[in-house]
Amino acid sequence: MKNFINIADHSSGDLRAIIEEAKVRKLKRKNLNKSAMDEDKPFEGKSMAMIFEKPSTRTRMSFDIAVKQLGGSSIILNPEGIHYGKGEESLKDTAKVLTEYVDIVMLRTSSHKNLEEFGKHLGIPIINGLSDLSHPCQIMSDILTYEESNGSITGKTVSWLGDGNNNMSNSLIEAAGKFDFNLKIGCPKKYSPNKKILSWAKKNKVSLIITSKPDEAIKNSDCVMTDKWVSMNDKVNKKSKKKTLKPFQVNEKLMLKAKSDAIFMHCLPVGRGEEVTDKVIDGKQSVVWRQALNRVHAQKSIIKWCID
Ligand code: CP
Ligand code: NVA
Repeated sequence: MKNFINIADHSSGDLRAIIEEAKVRKLKRKNLNKSAMDEDKPFEGKSMAMIFEKPSTRTRMSFDIAVKQLGGSSIILNPEGIHYGKGEESLKDTAKVLTEYVDIVMLRTSSHKNLEEFGKHLGIPIINGLSDLSHPCQIMSDILTYEESNGSITGKTVSWLGDGNNNMSNSLIEAAGKFDFNLKIGCPKKYSPNKKILSWAKKNKVSLIITSKPDEAIKNSDCVMTDKWVSMNDKVNKKSKKKTLKPFQVNEKLMLKAKSDAIFMHCLPVGRGEEVTDKVIDGKQSVVWRQALNRVHAQKSIIKWCID
């Protein structure tokens, strides 16, 4: 069974193949309508169930379009509207039932354990559409977006500013190890990456610098990334976290310290005026809307890899 739960679970070769296939497929359908099917329809007669425990715009839309373009269909399940591990039916039984109906499951969950529990009992692949621990599909799409405009990410320098301990930064650290790029994380000590991911990085010889100086984190960077200071379900004192993260805001002055052809990335949704200013996110270096589009293309390739 090929699940897509964490970037760290897969070989660099498989991950690279997923990105390359996404590039080729995207190019091939350049003149097609947004939801038209690819010529080879590799998901024809197949379907995906998507479960969202948390809100989503991009993941919901992009997976739906991805499945359509691959020639299949999708159904969105709201945990409130189905029997979903709340006493009346265990996650194990829900997983067994879904195995009979569909060919693949995508889950967005507040608890990474739910992904593992589901994965254990499904007889079909599962894709992580964001958990409290990781957001692998977003980071895979971001690699695609970077490489489309700036060539191979291998050997380049990516800077992450802000909350160093969230699902996005975790997946980014794993990607730095698998795609061999240098990663500089600029964050306050209090929001440094989690210890488990750091020991994975050390074991896998990831080129990683963690600094509490934003200038140092962004210096000579090819790609500047940030994310919401307070993630969904982040049970913190929001006011105090935002105050601590304020020096890590990506603004025009800070962007000047990156390379002149550096791009700015944000997975969205964005806290405008918080982690990034309007001038940067709406400016020339920003590629955020293409990032959203590329979720479709990277995820098509991930789905195909899972079912092949
Ligand atoms: N970037 C991302 O996953 O967005 P959504 O929360 O809208 O799905
Ligand atoms: N870190 C953010 C990512 C949103 C796509 C969150 O979990 O809310």
